[in-house]
Amino acid sequence: MTRRVAIFLSGGGSNMRALVGSMTGDHPGRPALVFSNDAEAGGIVWARAQGIATEVVDHRPFGTDRAAFEAEIAARLVPHGIDLICLAGFMRVLTAGFVGPWAGRMINIHPSLLPKYRGLNTHARALAAGEQEAGCTVHEVTPALDDGPILGQARVPVLAGDTPETLAARVLEQEHVLYPLVLRRFAAGDRRAIFLP
Ligand code: GRF
Repeated sequence: MTRRVAIFLSGGGSNMRALVGSMTGDHPGRPALVFSNDAEAGGIVWARAQGIATEVVDHRPFGTDRAAFEAEIAARLVPHGIDLICLAGFMRVLTAGFVGPWAGRMINIHPSLLPKYRGLNTHARALAAGEQEAGCTVHEVTPALDDGPILGQARVPVLAGDTPETLAARVLEQEHVLYPLVLRRFAAGDRRAIFLP
């Protein structure tokens, strides 16, 4: 049975593009929606040009009323018949009110080797801590930030002279390999974790 996948993003969507490109042939998933909180997000522009359905809910009019923002997102998903959600560079925190009903059907990619470096500025923090390796993690989304069962990790070396930007670029390359591999398994109901290399 084909799983209808929604991808949430806030920016350029390089991970979204990798996921969309992977959902072909006998892949159990298909891109059904690209969602953003930002109408100007590069990922929204790209998805529209590909003929993929898009929805945008700007978070700003909702102010601090996260529940109202999330209720609007949930309502916009309904017509698209979404089975799975992939967060991919989505920069808004989702509360338990939204995450709860999607438990077990929503995954995220985070640019660190969780449980290390939850939150933001992961590469700068890893460098400041003198880490010899870094990487990315795909995990099931639970109400706790950057927590939840790990479905995959990819490791990269930290190299002499690395800056947050050079390390981010090295990690991002691996994100584009790892996330599609994890989604393919997850969409088939297989939760065995993938570890690269
Ligand atoms: C990446 O660092 C990714 O790990 C995080 O958001 C950043 C941008 O991702 N989830 P993308 O290029 O918009 O997919």
